[in-house]
Amino acid sequence: MSEVVVTRLTPVLAARIDGVDITRGLDDRTWAEIRAAFEEHSVLVFRGQALDDESQIAFSRRFGSLEVTRSMNPAAGTPFARQSNLDIKTGEVIPQGDRRMVYQLANMLWHSDSSFKPVPSLGSLLSARIVPPKGGATEFASMRGGYATLPEATKRRIGDLIVVHDFAWSRDQVQPGFFTDKERAEYPPVRHPLVRANPINGRLALFMGAHASHIEGMPVGEGRALLKELLDHATQPEFVYRHDWRKGDLVVWDNRAVLHRATPFDSLRYKRLMQRTTISGDPAELAPVAR
Ligand code: SIN
Repeated sequence: MSEVVVTRLTPVLAARIDGVDITRGLDDRTWAEIRAAFEEHSVLVFRGQALDDESQIAFSRRFGSLEVTRSMNPAAGTPFARQSNLDIKTGEVIPQGDRRMVYQLANMLWHSDSSFKPVPSLGSLLSARIVPPKGGATEFASMRGGYATLPEATKRRIGDLIVVHDFAWSRDQVQPGFFTDKERAEYPPVRHPLVRANPINGRLALFMGAHASHIEGMPVGEGRALLKELLDHATQPEFVYRHDWRKGDLVVWDNRAVLHRATPFDSLRYKRLMQRTTISGDPAELAPVAR
């Protein structure tokens, strides 16, 4: 039986999990401790896990069913969303300005994976397969910490607001008109509550990020200004954990409770290959929070 050791990485979010070899499979008690740590800390860091695609899928499925990537990601049609500057067929570095690299630039905006889907995801797992010698960290911001520290009047104002999430909007911020009409039609905008409650511990979190286009019933400019104000508040350094990757790291995060963003590296000089699996969410968790 594994001896799970959970060490907080910041006072607000993220914990490192030691004492576990994910590649060897997990007994039920070990799994229960990991699942509880996920609900509590929102971001879990496992170092030195030599995962391949098969073992990543097996561990990811402990959290629930997996999304199948549908988008322009090179791994479309599989449970993987590949985050890489390498051509999936040749392994060569993709030139700057190539549509595949422009598409990935939106990952550098704070976002919650799949918030643009009718049922947003529960969480994501990112496995570091090839890591550049410098740069390419991933940052996570606690939307629980952000919410908890808002003035009471703001909490009352935003408690029952609905946000429209639109995949095309996140790409428009990088390059206006990036998606074709056909691509836009594949992902029509969806509506989600701005404040969500965790079903286990009841903690409230802001649910927004780069796909959050505007607020229903509010002029678009006013809604975007409010979303920006909330984002600026919730991504202050005290709510952020930055993960500097080593090969073999696995980071698991709760898309209901954190936003994340990629950070730059020299993508013409160094290689970076991260494999992401994304866990399907539960529609029952989308009920607006009564305040
Ligand atoms: C992602 O946005 O899911 C990937 C982040 C990263 O590549 O650092």
